Amino acid sequence: MSTSAENPAAAPVGDWCGADPFAPDFRDDPYPALHRLREQDPVNLTPVNTWRISRYDDVAAIFKVAKTSQTATDGTAPNFDPLDQRGSFLEFMLNKDDPEHKRLRRLAAQSLSGKTVRLMEDEVKSSVRNAMDTALKQGGMEIIADMAHYVPSRMMCQIMGVPEKDRQLFNEWTAARTNAFFARFLPPDVQKRTRDAGCAMADYFEDLVRVRRKALGDDMVSALIRAEDEGDKLRDGELVVQAIGIIIAGYETTIGMIGNGLRAFLDHPDQLEILRKDPELIVNACEECLRYDTPILFNWRVLAEPFEVGGKLLPTDAVIWQMLGSANRDPARFPDPDKFDIRRKDVAHQAFGGGIHFCIGNALARMEARHAINEFAQRTKGLRIEQGKLEWSHSFFRVMASLPITFH
Ligand code: HEM
Repeated sequence: MSTSAENPAAAPVGDWCGADPFAPDFRDDPYPALHRLREQDPVNLTPVNTWRISRYDDVAAIFKVAKTSQTATDGTAPNFDPLDQRGSFLEFMLNKDDPEHKRLRRLAAQSLSGKTVRLMEDEVKSSVRNAMDTALKQGGMEIIADMAHYVPSRMMCQIMGVPEKDRQLFNEWTAARTNAFFARFLPPDVQKRTRDAGCAMADYFEDLVRVRRKALGDDMVSALIRAEDEGDKLRDGELVVQAIGIIIAGYETTIGMIGNGLRAFLDHPDQLEILRKDPELIVNACEECLRYDTPILFNWRVLAEPFEVGGKLLPTDAVIWQMLGSANRDPARFPDPDKFDIRRKDVAHQAFGGGIHFCIGNALARMEARHAINEFAQRTKGLRIEQGKLEWSHSFFRVMASLPITFH
């Protein structure tokens, strides 16, 4: 271990190593930059004094071995914009440690159980069937609006009990609000848009909670109101923030999974043919989609005690960014990692995070994506598909705003 590594405080000011995740062009194709980062400086001190961990095994070690928290020892949240108060994620389960986190997670888990997901499956099947009926009639579709966004947004609004007439409000809010997780490092105009979305969503859910209190339904907002965990009810503020956090987590990420997954298939017609011939491969194919083009490129932890990783000793309160998108393309873990291969053996990616915060909605997302992608594959058999211009969303997650395609 080097001397400067033993004392990170004395380490030279960090650099982005050619992989600045906030640079406008990073999103076009982050993977060459992430390979460079992993090879040149796998435990990288950034110019904003956070540590990026980019090798698969090191990311796993942070999840499994390191003692971590979501906040610093003085209670501050490392990546958040201090001006962002309304609808703030400070009270969201993802920003909490146990036992507080466990209490919030258990309440929400009741509405996202395997049984609930199974009950929603018929609805998802009929949504993707309708989407493809329309697309085939029209001779094309807009991958995001007509499928990748259409399916999860309908399901999440239904889960939360958001009335049909209000659904399009969330299209803009959820994308803008994802930026709150790393808003401290974003430009002022993006910070403002993020705060505005937080205010709008807080107003919306406060009203919805008032309405539901008078007549509880079978949606998640009602379940959260009703829920009692060892006699402990959620306070109003906490409830609204869980609702905002869950709807965003369920919307934006799954748009990324279905959208990026379909795009990977469009770019690899041989893989689309393999799936058409063997639809049973869809389970593995969806895992490969998550590995190949990960919807959340990085998450965060804060060290609760010093931890040695990649030959460097990081101190208590070091802010860690686990580069999930890089870990999922680490050649030490996945042979030929830039190859999209739906028959890949052992595709255990880290797209859903790990440890106590491992994604609570993974079963729902996987179920939606399996139906959306398989329906698309089977119904476009024999067609030549032409891609139009791709636009990225202003979500913090790796999500497209649009990708039109035409069938020939
Ligand atoms: C492909 C789609 C999805 C991806 C890639 C994804 C990814 C993630 C990631 C990376 C985390 C953080 C884990 C960590 O820091 O260790 C997370 C947490 C979370 N996700 Fe997902 N997610 C997806 C779908 C969903 C859905 C559909 C829902 C809800 C319906 C959801 C709800 C949540 C919640 C509530 C948390 C916080 C859990 C906790 O703090 O215990 N996610 N997800």
